[in-house]
Amino acid sequence: MNPSSLAPTVVSKLNQQLNHELGAAHGYLAISLWCEGQNLKGFAAFFDNQAKEERAHAEKLTRHLINRGGTPEIEALPAPKQNFKTLLEVALLAQAMEQANTRGINEVYEAALTAKDYPVQVLMHWFINEQVEEEAWTAEMIDRIRSASCAGSLSDLDRHIGRLLGGSKE
Ligand code: FEO
Repeated sequence: MNPSSLAPTVVSKLNQQLNHELGAAHGYLAISLWCEGQNLKGFAAFFDNQAKEERAHAEKLTRHLINRGGTPEIEALPAPKQNFKTLLEVALLAQAMEQANTRGINEVYEAALTAKDYPVQVLMHWFINEQVEEEAWTAEMIDRIRSASCAGSLSDLDRHIGRLLGGSKE
């Protein structure tokens, strides 16, 4: 396909978002390892899966750029946060990460609307729907951690967190 069919503004936003998704993968990997170190194996598995999902999201954007003659530009990633005081702090960070991701996806969509780029608009519909689910699990996780007021209930939550929050979608 003709490379000129992608507007520079759309290429720029797609590249920004694909790096954002890779950054989220990096962040969730760090969170997963922290959970593993706390013997929270259920949370560790959940966040490891999230890291894989974010990587898959980045690949969707990369593939779209390549299929349309664009050039994906992979940037350096900042070191993710790796130390936490509590599991609640982890969940609050996950929520902030997903909210930031939603803002990035909205920016891609707005650029695609302005450029009348229909394929990117359709691609972004998938991401926009995905973000509704992503923000929902972060909110549920925060509620569930706040309700797990003793060590026993936290241990139960750890055992069931993957099933409770729905596991992998992608
Ligand atoms: Fe790529 Fe957590 O959304």
